[in-house]
Amino acid sequence: MPIDLSPAPLSLACLNGVMMPADEAKVSVWDRGFVFGDAVYEVCRIYQGRSWLEEEHFARLERSLGELEIKGVDMKALRGRTIATIKQSDILEGTVYIQITRGVAPRAHAFPNPPVPPTEFIAVKPYDDSPTQKNRQKGVTILSHPDLRWGRCDIKSTNLLANCMALENVKRKGGFEAALVDRDGLLTEATHSSILWVRDGRLEGTPLEENILPGCTRLLADTLTDRIGMKIHDAKIDLNTLMQADEVLLMGTTIEVMPVVKVDEAVIGKGEPGPITRKLQESYKIALREWLEQTVVIR
Ligand SMILES: Cc1ncc(COP(=O)(O)O)c(C=O)c1O
Repeated sequence: MPIDLSPAPLSLACLNGVMMPADEAKVSVWDRGFVFGDAVYEVCRIYQGRSWLEEEHFARLERSLGELEIKGVDMKALRGRTIATIKQSDILEGTVYIQITRGVAPRAHAFPNPPVPPTEFIAVKPYDDSPTQKNRQKGVTILSHPDLRWGRCDIKSTNLLANCMALENVKRKGGFEAALVDRDGLLTEATHSSILWVRDGRLEGTPLEENILPGCTRLLADTLTDRIGMKIHDAKIDLNTLMQADEVLLMGTTIEVMPVVKVDEAVIGKGEPGPITRKLQESYKIALREWLEQTVVIR
């Protein structure tokens, strides 16, 4: 097979409407995103140069901005700039990161009054799916960890320290993701993915309340389950129950549908991806293929 010697595409950014190499993008140290983590974000997967589930990601971004009362973002213009940055980057397989902060203001806890213009940052970078693809075939191990996050995990804020600490602890022990367990001993979600499980043939997930992020991939799962004649049932379970599930799976923007074959020391099912997980993986592929085959609408 001939070796591809073409240079890897670079990361391209659009900061407050100006395109530049991502490494050259700079913001003020007084930006509230830097000082307080006063910011929200989204990550979309780019397949064949188009952002997948864009409608859902922008709807969630708008909701996060609304919940935090970050005003002054023109959502239509932001979406247009996101599409333009993806196009200009020439990246076909990648991710696009969108972060909006409350803006630059003298350091004070209360929101600036009058409000300042929000900082808008878009970055497109290539994504190599091959390591994840291997994990999707064989399944992964997840390890339990206390959920130390704040009370509004439904807002996709950049306050991710508790998520980072949990994932770091789990990675050091060889785990792929953390199964976060709250103070009442109940499972919430993972550090950057949603958790679903199968018990007695029923696909279940933690109810979409303020303690978890409504994952766009999990929302898509509602359509995927329709295709296989199932639905996602809300359930609050503890770690022991998760360990005894017939199947466990993670869902997220880059991992898509990821089988879990071990939770801590407990082997899940037969220790290999289960039949319902496989069906979900298959319907994910079909949904993606159908979307890619659709005529591209020029906005
Ligand atoms: C805490 C958390 N839960 C779930 C998800 C999965 O969401 P999505 O499917 O939109 O990627 C993410 C994604 O980053 C996340 O950070």
